[in-house]
Amino acid sequence: MPATVVVGTQWGDEGKGKFTDLVAKEMQMVVRYQGGHNAGHTLVVDGESFKLQLTPSGVLYDHIVPVIGNGVVVDPKVLLAEIDMLNSRGIDTSRLALSGNAHLIFPYHQQLDALHERHLGAGKLGTTKRGIGPTYADKAMRVGIRVQDLLDPKIFRAKLDTALRHTNVVLAKVYNRLPVDADEIAAQYLDEYLPRLQPHINDTVGLIHEGLEAGQGVLFEGAQATFLDLDHGTYPFVTSSNPTAGGVCPGAGVGPKHIDRIIGITKAYVTRVGSGPFPTELFDEVGDYLVDVGHEYGTNTGRKRRCGWFDAVMARFAVRVNSLTEIAITKLDVLDQLETVKVCVGYDHNGEHLKHLPYHQSVLHAVTPIYEELPGWKADISGVEERHDLPREAENYLAFLEEQIGCPIHMVGVGPGRRQFLHFAA
Ligand code: IMP
Repeated sequence: MPATVVVGTQWGDEGKGKFTDLVAKEMQMVVRYQGGHNAGHTLVVDGESFKLQLTPSGVLYDHIVPVIGNGVVVDPKVLLAEIDMLNSRGIDTSRLALSGNAHLIFPYHQQLDALHERHLGAGKLGTTKRGIGPTYADKAMRVGIRVQDLLDPKIFRAKLDTALRHTNVVLAKVYNRLPVDADEIAAQYLDEYLPRLQPHINDTVGLIHEGLEAGQGVLFEGAQATFLDLDHGTYPFVTSSNPTAGGVCPGAGVGPKHIDRIIGITKAYVTRVGSGPFPTELFDEVGDYLVDVGHEYGTNTGRKRRCGWFDAVMARFAVRVNSLTEIAITKLDVLDQLETVKVCVGYDHNGEHLKHLPYHQSVLHAVTPIYEELPGWKADISGVEERHDLPREAENYLAFLEEQIGCPIHMVGVGPGRRQFLHFAA
């Protein structure tokens, strides 16, 4: 059984949860390898909707071990609330494994996230204010506190004091805020959270490798997406981790040779929340249509998403940087009522036709999309169950995307339900 990665190819919110859930069914383990509760996916099971932020999608299946890997940043309050929510709805979370090496998010990280955004003014990043960036910054500065530190109260307290020596100076001198009280945090994390987290804390690297050695199917579930990647995204308008498929290696402790199936989840159009360049963004009634029909509001923050036409330049980059082996298209049905659909096939930059993403971001800000316009299908495809039952125009749209992206499309979503998808695999 191969190790599989599911990764978003755009700016997140591609509808990864649905296909992750679908692929997960065949697996024994589902692993998150980066990000934190800035993610948010909605799974619709038997008409019931589950909103998950931290817990891997596979948690809804009894046969799956859900794993929060070392590359994830964890707010225990959020994780425990999610466990309570799942338990109250009859979902067993006892198998959930939490890496001892994952870094903890503290309230001061969230406070710093919000203060930093305010400090940036018009240049703000539009973060989710969940403390993601400051937690990864502490990790890189080597003043972060890991889940395993909770198991040794003396170490935990010493590390907290070290972290706060710096953080409290920043809060007071840069932002004119009151210092954070170490006693209060220690009580909350050690007395309130630890007893409930302890049964889940595990050596997840060992667990994953035992699974791989036993021939189990392991799915690595990316949060956020390719263009929010700290290294390959539209920096600085990115998240602070590596959602791209290679992020699995450091984020879960697995070498590249284990990974042989990499599924890029690609929405039939493009959306983005927060700031940053977006060449195919629409400011007209089609943009409003996509927001309305696609329900393009953040799962987590409720923010309205920016919407635009499908961008094949971005998709080609995603194929390269993730080594995608296949594509899953989501939300094709959202385009059902449009007279025509456009696909950006290249960028024009001062008369030069760019087929690939320019490395210089100033160029990306200055490009004009080159579009191909295709006829729409003007039909409800949400009930279609077989590829050959799709309207010819919808089939043509997909064939055109496939040709432009240069990667086979294996699955297509035609509605939010678990069964509303088409299998295209040979
Ligand atoms: P952060 O991850 O909260 O630091 O936010 C950095 C950028 O990533 C912002 O533009 C966010 O809107 C974006 N972002 C973070 N998580 C998600 C997600 O799950 N979906 C879409 N955008 C996200």
